Amino acid sequence: MSPGFFDYLRQRQDLVNQALRRYVPRLENFAARVTEAMHYSLFAGGKRLRPILLLAGAEAVGGRAEDYLPAACALECIHTYSLIHDDLPAMDDDDLRRGKPTCHKAFDEATAILAGDGLLTMAFELLSHPDLVARVAGERLLKVIHLVARAAGIHGMVAGQMADLLAEGRAVSPEELDFIHRHKTGALITASVVSGAMLAGAEEAALSALEAYGWAIGRAFQIVDDILDIVGDEKTLGKPVGSDLAKKKATYPALYGLEASREKARELVEQALGHLESFGPEAEPLRDIARYIVERKL
Ligand code: IPE
Ligand code: IPE
Ligand code: MG
Ligand code: MG
Ligand code: MG
Repeated sequence: MSPGFFDYLRQRQDLVNQALRRYVPRLENFAARVTEAMHYSLFAGGKRLRPILLLAGAEAVGGRAEDYLPAACALECIHTYSLIHDDLPAMDDDDLRRGKPTCHKAFDEATAILAGDGLLTMAFELLSHPDLVARVAGERLLKVIHLVARAAGIHGMVAGQMADLLAEGRAVSPEELDFIHRHKTGALITASVVSGAMLAGAEEAALSALEAYGWAIGRAFQIVDDILDIVGDEKTLGKPVGSDLAKKKATYPALYGLEASREKARELVEQALGHLESFGPEAEPLRDIARYIVERKL
C-alpha cells in the first residue's frame, strides 16, 4: 500500500460519514424509532468500502468524488441494510456488529427488519436525488440505478444470501461456494466501482476493466472475511469470531483450508491489479484498496 493510504482512507470515511449525516434524515414523528435504528447501525462503525470504491471508480476515469456523494451513500445504505438482516435470528443470528449489539438486540426484530427496509429504499431515494440528477445525465443515471438494483437483488446479493442459508450444515461444491461468494459479496462491490465510473462517463473499455477488477477484489474480500471469522480478533473486527463454524457455513477455509484460502485471496488481488494496468496514477487508490483487502484485520 502507498504510504498515504491510511490517511486517504480516513479522509474518505469522513467525507462519506458527513454525506450520510446530510442525506439520511432522522425523523421526529410517530415512527422516529425506525430512523433511530437506521442511524444506530449506519454510524456504529464500518469501513465504508463500497462508497469509497464508488468515489475511487469515478476518480479513476477523471470524475470528481464530490459530485457523486448521494450515490456513494446509497451503496452504504444497501450494505448496512444487508448487515442488519444478515444478523437477524432467522439468518446468521449474530449479536455483535461494528463493535456494538446488532440492530435487533439494541432495538427488536421488527424494528431491525424495518430499519433494513428503510435503508434499502433510502438507497433508491438517494440514487434519484436532485443533487445527483443535477450532475449526471438522465440516461446515464438510469443505467446506474439499474446496475445497482440488479447487484442488490435476485441477480446479486439476495441470491447469494439465499444460497448461503441453503448451504448451511452440509458440504458444498466449489461451484456452489463460488456462486455464494460472487453473489452475496462480489456483486455489490463490483457495482460500487463500476457505477462510480459510469456516473463519471467512463468509456466501455474502462468499464470492462473496472468490472473485472471489482469481481476479483469482491471474491478476495469474502475469502478474507471467511478467514477472519477463524483467525480474526473479535475486538478489532467488531463482530463475533467463530460464527461461521458454529453455523456450519459454506466458507473458503472450510472447503480449501486456511493456507490455500490465503493463497487464493492473494492471487485474486494480483489479478485485480492486472486489470488496472491500462490506468495511470489516478487509479492508485483502487490499487491500494485491492492490496488492503488481503492485509486487513478489520
Ligand atoms: C461485512 O462487510 C459483510 C460482508 C460482505 C463480508 P464489511 O467488512 O465491509 O463490513 P463493514 O461495513 O466494514 O462493517
Ligand atoms: C454476508 O456474509 C454478506 C452480506 C451480504 C451481508 P457474512 O454473513 O459472512 O458477513 P458477516 O461475516 O456476518 O459480516
Ligand atoms: Mg451471512
Ligand atoms: Mg453474517
Ligand atoms: Mg462472514
